[in-house]
Amino acid sequence: MNKRKILVTSALPYANGSIHLGHLVEYIQTDIWVRFQKMRGHTVYYVCADDTHGTPIMLRAEKEQISPEALIARVHAEHLRDFTGFHVQFDNYYSTHSEETRHFSEEIYGKLKVAGLIAVRGIEQLFDPVKNMFLPDRFVKGECPKCGAKDQYGDSCEVCGAAYTPTELKNPYSAVSGATPVTQSSEHYFFSLSDPRCAEFLRQWTSEANHLQPEAANKMREWLGEDGDNNLSDWDISRDAPYFGFAIPDAPNKYFYVWLDAPIGYMGSFKNLCAREQIEFNAFWQRGSTTELYHFIGKDILYFHALFWPAMLEHSGYRTPTKIFAHGFLTVNGEKMSKSRGTFITAESYLDQGLNPEWLRYYYAAKLSSTLEDIDLNLEDFVARVNSDLIGKFINIASRCAGFISKRFDGRLVSGELYQQLCQTVNERFPGWRPDLIEKAFEEREFAAAVRQIMKCADEANEMIHALAPWEMAKQPERGDELHHACSLGIQLFYLLSRYLKPILPGTAKQIEAFLNCESLTWPTLQSDQPVSDLLLPAGHSITTYHHLMTRIDTKQIDALVIANTQSLTAVHPTPAPIRHAGKQQHAVMPIAETINIEDFGKIDLRVARIVNAEHVEGAEKLLKLTLDIGSEQRNVFAGIKSAYDPEQLKGRLTVMVANLAPRQMKFGCSEGMVLAAGGGHPGELFILSPDSGAQPGMRIK
Ligand code: MSP
Ligand code: ZN
Repeated sequence: MNKRKILVTSALPYANGSIHLGHLVEYIQTDIWVRFQKMRGHTVYYVCADDTHGTPIMLRAEKEQISPEALIARVHAEHLRDFTGFHVQFDNYYSTHSEETRHFSEEIYGKLKVAGLIAVRGIEQLFDPVKNMFLPDRFVKGECPKCGAKDQYGDSCEVCGAAYTPTELKNPYSAVSGATPVTQSSEHYFFSLSDPRCAEFLRQWTSEANHLQPEAANKMREWLGEDGDNNLSDWDISRDAPYFGFAIPDAPNKYFYVWLDAPIGYMGSFKNLCAREQIEFNAFWQRGSTTELYHFIGKDILYFHALFWPAMLEHSGYRTPTKIFAHGFLTVNGEKMSKSRGTFITAESYLDQGLNPEWLRYYYAAKLSSTLEDIDLNLEDFVARVNSDLIGKFINIASRCAGFISKRFDGRLVSGELYQQLCQTVNERFPGWRPDLIEKAFEEREFAAAVRQIMKCADEANEMIHALAPWEMAKQPERGDELHHACSLGIQLFYLLSRYLKPILPGTAKQIEAFLNCESLTWPTLQSDQPVSDLLLPAGHSITTYHHLMTRIDTKQIDALVIANTQSLTAVHPTPAPIRHAGKQQHAVMPIAETINIEDFGKIDLRVARIVNAEHVEGAEKLLKLTLDIGSEQRNVFAGIKSAYDPEQLKGRLTVMVANLAPRQMKFGCSEGMVLAAGGGHPGELFILSPDSGAQPGMRIK
């Protein structure tokens, strides 16, 4: 076999957020493909890392009063835990905040400079005079220049959809300090994408060798414009201090913009792996390399991977990617993931609820194709599909046949003449079980097609077992051979299906390896003149006792998952509130919400509550556990007010709670309501409410 050498990456997740089911579309897709290639015997390295630099991470660390290094170390551990929980198996999971990535960033920048592709010029930008920093677009807010809507971001209006620059906002304010920004100029460094050498190279790269999927190539042509035009603008790759990132050599107070070093993090992570495992780095990255390099990414970051990245590599003397594999976005129940609907589901909560990660891997595989189309996780369909395919069709084959093999035949599958007969049956009845189609589908990332083919085989196996009815044979002692043959056939077919499903279900495959007493399920390969029976376990093979391999999903588990991910008001999980500059005072004000009518308001049952107990929660950074007396009963509520209140100071106080909020299962227990608090978004800036004296616990607030 021609042994390929392949380096695969998934996009590097930002270090300022948790992994959610949307991210997992990408990491599971990549992992399945990598496992498939590894099973086929190719040399594959799968690397990834946290994307650690930039203003949001710097500000979040500041807010948590820890160093950015401490923040990214904590998040790194969380991300790796989540990926491992979903069987996403990287050969290296590193960080862009590493010496390797710094080295390559400086080197590539240096080479682009020598090539005459770095330009320096002054630009005007909004500056926060209180915080003493330039403000990224998303950190400036104000009134939309088009429609006048308040509290819109600096790049686009969420009300009318207009796009603009932050300097066009009316009455702008800094989302960091609330101050009115001033325009200030400073020198920035640019990668000269407008240089004809870049456009020429990118045009050629886009049109050759299927580097891009057809839809992606079309997008690129749009960005590149017609031949002769110059549609590309230079790319601003520097940011002024304060910034969490790598300093630009010989440029005091300037840092590389996070997106400059992020893809270089692929190289950094790989370099780190090379040092550990004595792999030759250059064989994979030098120009002219015959190894393959693939980047799996979401369609939102195509611009960075198809334009900037190949151009950077090309002009700094490295190889360019073999292919970029972009995928679509996840929707849940047909809509964008939403915190209020409970469909913004974190990887952690899924695992915490005891849901099997392989259910999700299977469901995603059953939906994924090689296009940029979005994929929908329909929760009802998820339950139905997993139960019917994985349990009803796949696992069922083993559970129906294994018992007889153990009890009646000492754990041995048929041998001798019965084995010959079994092989003949397989070859005659199951020609569609040859690997060709399934293998092609996996290779081309048409996982839905692969799953369809595999399930078609599973259907055939079930039909056959159903027709043979071994449970009937078992009632007639004289039909022992027939029973042995039928059950051996079932187990052999189950074995073959397991090999095909292993890239998708690596955890179950491990259990199956133990059950079927085989060292490792490998990818089935056949020469064109070989029969399917060459893929079976040998005659007389012994298996071990069958134990349940997978349980069904209970709809209740999904309901609990959605409840656990439903976020309501700010009391439980304070989120940073937008800050508006109001005259000289700089206090925090939330924009006024949409108008509601009195019936809407009436749905909220607000009660006076006495805090009878308040205590710290072990392992929770922000929460206090409150026990609230509302006259008729006592409730436990977890409130995100630890930064502002000492539990002792709360005991005995009266406050206000939402008494009819759906209970929310949290890591630390169930939260049965919510207390109300005003907050400005800064740690410690939280104020719980108190009724006037005389109010009694349980009184309704209307
Ligand atoms: N840090 C950048 C990538 C740098 S790569 C050099 C980034 N990070 S991210 O955390 O926002 O996203 C990581 C990957 O997950 C991206 O490829 C992104 O497209 C993907 N997804 C994030 N949310 C997603 C969905 N809801 N659905 C599918 N993929 C999604 O972008
Ligand atoms: Zn607007």
